[in-house]
Amino acid sequence: MQSSFPFVPESASTLSGEVDAIYFYISGVTIFFTLLISTVVIFFAIRYRRRNAFEIPRPIEGSTKLETLWSVIPLLIAMSIFVWGAKVYFAQYRPPKNAMEIYVVGKQWMWKFQHATGQREINELHVPVGQKVKLIMATEDVIHDVFVPAFRIKADVVPGKYTTEWFEATKPGRYHFFCAEYCGMNHSGMGGWVVVMEPTDFDNWLSGNANQMSPAAAGQQMFDSLGCVSCHGASGEGGRGPALVGVFGSQVVLNGGQKVSADEIYIRESILNPQAKIVSGFGPIMPSFQGQVNEEQLLQLVAYVKSLSTAKPETPTTKTPVATKPTVQQSNK
Ligand code: CUA
Repeated sequence: MQSSFPFVPESASTLSGEVDAIYFYISGVTIFFTLLISTVVIFFAIRYRRRNAFEIPRPIEGSTKLETLWSVIPLLIAMSIFVWGAKVYFAQYRPPKNAMEIYVVGKQWMWKFQHATGQREINELHVPVGQKVKLIMATEDVIHDVFVPAFRIKADVVPGKYTTEWFEATKPGRYHFFCAEYCGMNHSGMGGWVVVMEPTDFDNWLSGNANQMSPAAAGQQMFDSLGCVSCHGASGEGGRGPALVGVFGSQVVLNGGQKVSADEIYIRESILNPQAKIVSGFGPIMPSFQGQVNEEQLLQLVAYVKSLSTAKPETPTTKTPVATKPTVQQSNK
């Protein structure tokens, strides 16, 4: 699994080629100017050295042409690095909308993955080749970081919020991933393998592990057992809390009149800290569920709320979950 060029890891995602290209470009520019400037310094030091003790150098007037040139050329080079770098950065940090979503929870010192269809994995993640995959990531304890060198992706997993990263693998194989944020004694062992499979193999793998409840279904059970339903019936039954159908992905109007877009982070906050953003027309009566649900259960609750709005399948290779028509205006997020 070594690449032909020994200085970079194997290249196995749609982004890795461009990340390498910009890396080599910056390295090339750096090496070129380092050599050019040090050669010229040495050459001038010898060529224009003082030859006798009474020598007085000719006065130098300066040259506008030369100064313009050595300001404009570096500016253009620096801007090319900035523009190209920004382009790659945005491609990497804006997950595409049609991605297959996988929930990730890190804890000292292991990684737990759950597919939208319910399959769970520990320290190993199976994905199909040629499919955009978005990781929605949380941590039970301290900061961790998911780093897959072969895909050139790396993102922190931070307590109290969700972070995401995405990739599209370009060839089947096993790729090492690491925790890339020091997190205590067994940090160095906190890693595993991403297993990239042909789509048919992946479907077989999925159906061979199909006995687990989907996060959305588990979230619905949690929703019932916590008694959420008494205030928050999916379509507004109960009446004390806003209806949840169609909320996810919409623009929610708050009591203060401002709008927030209902994404995973908003849903999570509304469960743990309900007073932070109160929906217009409702009172501050919801209790916090901080401490009553762990990160995995939170993700399941979020998945359930999401399932009340997602009209598209989360995993394109399996059958469409029961979709409910959104009743609220959709955001263009
Ligand atoms: Cu987890 Cu380092």
